[in-house]
Parts: sequence; structure tokens; C-alpha cells
Amino acid sequence: MAKWLDNAIFYEIYPQSFQDTNADGIGDFQGIIKRLDYIRELGCNALWLNPCFQSPFGDAGYDVADYYTAAPRYGTNEDLKQLFSEAHERGMHVLLDLVPGHTSVEHKWFLESMKAEKNEYTDRYIWTDSIWESPQNMGSIRGISDRDGSCMVNFFSNQPALNYGFYKKDRPWQQSMEDEGPRATLEAMKNVMRFWLGLGCDGFRVDMAGSLVKNDEEGKGTIKLWQNVREFLDKEFPEAAMVSEWGEPDKSLQGGFHMDFLLHFGPSHYNDLFRCEEPFFSGRGKGDASAFVKKYIENYEKTDKKGLICIPSGNHDMDRLARSLHGDELKVAFAFLLSMPGAPFIYYGDEIGMRHVENLTSVEGGYNRTGARSPMQWDLTPNAGFSSAAKEKLYIGQDEAADRPTVAQQMASEGSLYREVKRLIEIRQSAAALQSNGGIEFVYAKEKKYPLAYTRSSGDEKILVVINPGREEASFEGEYEFKEVIYGFGGEIVYNAGKIAVPGGSAFYIRLG
Ligand code: NOJ
Repeated sequence: MAKWLDNAIFYEIYPQSFQDTNADGIGDFQGIIKRLDYIRELGCNALWLNPCFQSPFGDAGYDVADYYTAAPRYGTNEDLKQLFSEAHERGMHVLLDLVPGHTSVEHKWFLESMKAEKNEYTDRYIWTDSIWESPQNMGSIRGISDRDGSCMVNFFSNQPALNYGFYKKDRPWQQSMEDEGPRATLEAMKNVMRFWLGLGCDGFRVDMAGSLVKNDEEGKGTIKLWQNVREFLDKEFPEAAMVSEWGEPDKSLQGGFHMDFLLHFGPSHYNDLFRCEEPFFSGRGKGDASAFVKKYIENYEKTDKKGLICIPSGNHDMDRLARSLHGDELKVAFAFLLSMPGAPFIYYGDEIGMRHVENLTSVEGGYNRTGARSPMQWDLTPNAGFSSAAKEKLYIGQDEAADRPTVAQQMASEGSLYREVKRLIEIRQSAAALQSNGGIEFVYAKEKKYPLAYTRSSGDEKILVVINPGREEASFEGEYEFKEVIYGFGGEIVYNAGKIAVPGGSAFYIRLG
């Protein structure tokens, strides 16, 4: 695993919405370059960019039309190369978003694959052998070309599924992973990776990584596929970092990924913490972190030393964190996010508590996700400094509230969320125990109880973390030798006769003897 992941803190950039420099109302690569110093100053040292390749943008770029060319609206391949090198000069790394499961219907592979005559791309996608048969349980594209067959879709109906084969075949048109078509698809995807790694990118976030091989309930085929990719990377790009959108770290890390996300879907109980009716991090104190902790420990034990489990503050598919948490609740949530093992991922704007923009019409296949994708709020100038285009030209409408948070205001004001996040990052980066590979042991995580407490450790260093989002004082029992409080928010921690008590809405990191 690349050494830089030991203390990596990622910042996810939705390129459309970060910074526009050519007044067309949409973000671009030069805008990201312009803001690299901001991200570095916050303390993040790595970036994940959502897909930025040529696309009809039916799914915000997750429908790629050409894997080898940057989308002109963001700039050129040269601009992207410049972004890689400017990031490297600042000691930062950049992950691109690889979408291997499907393309856009406009991709030249698909245009060829639709043809009735057999050609190089006939088996690049999953086709049934008759227009009258659709793949079971999956949608399909049918009746749009001379080819007799239905093409399986992978997500939206304009995203035909690339063919990596079936783990278990139950229909004659299904191919196995070892067949020529599926093997060629995988080689084509490796070439895409080769191309961008060769231009200086540092790795990939992989879209829907766990679902490439079909009829593969336990993921065995898909794990094997990724092990093949790992072999290739180990040989040619051993430093490349890989993070999967999979949500089952025992599988993804076995497949050779370095990191996997815990997400709002799947069995992680991530939503219990941040995005449910009574999130654990709400001050109401009615939440429950215990199912999350149980699942986390299960995953952690299976994957310890094999790779990282990453907990994001949010992403472009989820409601903004600030939709369910407010004010100091957000600070306490960040005290948790920035003291857990694995590399933290901060979704752009979450560091200032950007709100979920309500009642927007869907943009580029965003639907309910659109409100989490609104343009970054930099300052008090028009369009919050995102773009000098007319307001109606902005990619997505912004938060209209007079008190919408901005970077400029929060940088200037003591007690802001931005300042707290920056402070938390500084503290994390000063203690190996708090970073990616430090161990974790939960010492208090009871059902429907507050606080949540765990120790992080590395070598001789041991740090106790106590997080109490609820408004009421909370306590638990334990024997510790307190050496120094290295982070404290929301009052004082009291340790007396084997009992640790913390005020409501507080978080602490304590160095232990
Ligand atoms: C997951 C991505 O995060 C999401 O935005 C996209 O719509 C789907 N995969 C399909 O690629």
C-alpha cells in the first residue's frame, strides 16, 4: 500500500460545482487548481474528483462516452495533467473516478456493439441473443438497433452494462469470465487505467466496483477480477491507490483494493449515525451507534492490516450532512470522522456545513441528489464566488439563504465549523495513533446509550476518544491514566474514581499513560 495513505485525508470534489474560471456557470480544472491552496490549508492532502471525462452527462458524468478525453467543459487533458502536477508540488495526491461497469450509449464501443455484423465490440456489453428476452432482474436497452438482442443496463437505462462475464451461467447468451469478450473488456479497462496513471494521476475511486461480474452473489468472481487488476498494478504502478464503492470491505480488500467506503447502502449502519430519523449525532440524544459499532468491529477484524475502511462525511449521492445535523452537532460528528481509522473523506463544502438545497429540479440525473451538488460557497461576492456567470447560468442553483455559510466568513471567525475541522485535522496529523493504520478498540458503545468511546493506538501511543453528541451529560466507567487532553470541545472532561463524565455536545481526545 502506498505510504502516503498512512496519513491521507481526502477531499471529494464534484468538478461541476467547485470553481468556475471561464464564466460558463460550471466548474473547471483551472478552478480546482486555483483552490488547491485552500484545500491544503484546510489540511487535506488528497483529492477524489468525480468523473471528468467526455460524456452526454445523463448521470453527471457516470455515463462515459470517451475514457481517454477530459470533458471539454472542464478543460483539456493538458489541464488535468497540470492539476496532477500542481497537486504533487503541494504534497497532494489525486484520484480519478473510474467507471468500469457501464458506459454511455454514446460510447463508440456501444455504437459498434449495436451493429448486426459481428465486430471487435460485439461482446463488449452484455446482450441476450434475442430481442424478446431481457436479462432477469435487470433493465435492458432494446429495439434501438439492428442487432437482435437486448442489452443489459447497469444503472440508469442509458448506461449499458460492460461485459465481464457471469459467475454462474444460467442462460446460453451469458458468457463466463474466461471468455474472450469479458477478458477483452477487462484489458480495455486496464488500458484506461494505464493511460491516466501514466499522465500522473495517483489512483482511482472505482464506481460500483462490487458488481462487475454478474450472477455473483457472494462476489467471488468480482473479487477474482480485481485480484487480476491488482497484479497488473503491482507490476506497473505499485504506488497507485485504489478505493472502491463496494461497502463490504472484507470482499473489496480481498480483491486488492486499499480502501473501501462505508456508505449509505449495504449493511454498514452508517446511516444510523448521520442520516436517519434519530441520528446518533443529533443533540436530541435518541440515536444508537451500537449496530454500527458491531458491524464495524466485524469488518475491522476481518480486514485489519489488509487495507482501510473509510467513512466519508458525505458524497454526491447522499443528503448533505447539514440536512440532519446542525450547529455544534456537526463539529462533534467531525471529531468522530477525524479520529476513526482509515482515510477520512470530506465532501466539498461539508467543512463549512453547506446545506442541502431543497426543491431543486433534477440536474443531469441527480434527482434527490441534486441538492447535495450545489456550487461551493466561497465568499460574499455574487454567486458566492463560485462563478462570474449570470445567476441563471449556474450549473445548479445555490443555497439562497442570506446566512448561507461561506469559506471566507468561516475562515475569519473563531468558533466556526471550518476552524474546528482544521484543528481536528492538525491534531490527527500530529498523532500516528489517530491516523489511518492506528488500531481501534471500542471501550463504550452501548445500545441507545451515550457517549461513544474508543481508544486508538500505535506503538506506545494510546489515545482515548470520547464523543458525546447528546445534550445531556453522559458517563461510563473505566480505569485510565490520563496524561494530556489533546483535543477538547464543549467543556471539560472529568475523570474521578474510575468514572469518566463528559458534558452534553462534547468531544475529547486524551493521551493515555
Ligand atoms: C455510483 C455513483 O456514485 C453515482 O453517482 C452514479 O449515479 C452511479 N454509481 C452509477 O454510475
